[in-house]
Amino acid sequence: MFKNIFGKFSHDLGVDLGTANTLIYVQGKGIVINEPSVVAINTRNDQILAIGDEAKKMIGKNPAHISVVRPLVDGIVSDFEVTEKMLKYFVDKIHKDSWLSTPRPRMVIGVPQDITEVERKAVEDAALSAGARKIYLVEEPIAAAIGARLPITEAVGNMVVDIGGGTTEIAVISLSGVVSSKSLKTAGIELDWDIINYAREKYNLFLGENSAENVKKILGSAYSMPEKMVMEIRGRDLYSGLPRSVKITDEEIRYALAKTINIIIDNIKSVVETTPPDLISEIYERGIILCGGGALLKGLDKLIFQETKIPTKVIDDPLTAIARGTGIILEDLEGLKDLLIPTTNE
Ligand SMILES: Nc1ncnc2c1ncn2[C@@H]1O[C@H](COP(=O)(O)OP(=O)(O)OP(=O)(O)O)[C@@H](O)[C@H]1O
Ligand SMILES: [Mg+2]
Repeated sequence: MFKNIFGKFSHDLGVDLGTANTLIYVQGKGIVINEPSVVAINTRNDQILAIGDEAKKMIGKNPAHISVVRPLVDGIVSDFEVTEKMLKYFVDKIHKDSWLSTPRPRMVIGVPQDITEVERKAVEDAALSAGARKIYLVEEPIAAAIGARLPITEAVGNMVVDIGGGTTEIAVISLSGVVSSKSLKTAGIELDWDIINYAREKYNLFLGENSAENVKKILGSAYSMPEKMVMEIRGRDLYSGLPRSVKITDEEIRYALAKTINIIIDNIKSVVETTPPDLISEIYERGIILCGGGALLKGLDKLIFQETKIPTKVIDDPLTAIARGTGIILEDLEGLKDLLIPTTNE
């Protein structure tokens, strides 16, 4: 009976603590937090100035005494103290909207599949200090597959490629477990740097990170587009130091991104090669599911199909797949407990 009362008023949380974005799913409500994993700090007094959307706007515009940081790098906690404060800020924001004094929530958190014990403990400690009463960890590709409603508990092959900001996770899943996989520290943020490097080398133009990301989202593609696109990009001239703009085409950006995209595709092929033949024949039928923000790069599904001959589909709303998956796990923690990985205190 206590359990019932607890369950009724406790807002259990599903958390996708990503390199680029943090999303939090609240049981019974859906995704309530969806903000960049960015924090601005005044280094003169160590005070936090802004977190999330507000902090991201400050990237590249900050004076020397303000540092704007991503506390997670390559999918794992890099700056523990700042991660802790950021997560606590988001969790407090959820509880602020609730008039009940709610018991501490249980949290299902997605983590990269090759996470070490030390890295796992950092995530758990951050969650505990953000108020969690119990923590459940799930590998991100599994959470994404559940978010995509793939039949991963059955004896069929499901292939998921999650391209985030800092990591790309490739996994073949069957019978609730990962059969073959790879994690790369190559993903969306690296594509932004490809654009920054291209503009610098070709046009002596220095682009900010947010501008480069914007160019990637609007003009970026992995496969020839039916119509040529041109965009004016603004940056700083490397020699004069003055603002300057150049017109750039989709073809140039495709060229700039190609090397990084090829690394991702080569790794998809190598996971295919190490997957048992029976599962692979199913994957050729059922296809590859793309998720994470990087899945939104135009034509990426087409290029992966061309290179692997496996039909490839971007899941609906790829940026929220993992958070939705953690939410589905929350609703049935008992039934889906085989999908979880042990926490460091178990
Ligand atoms: N339309 C788009 N085209 C290309 N890339 C996009 C688009 N929209 C978002 N992205 C990229 O997706 C990335 C963020 O994706 P996501 O939120 O899945 O990452 P994350 O989960 O925070 O990172 P990780 O999983 O690596 O820890 C960013 O690099 C962003 O630039
Ligand atoms: Mg992610």
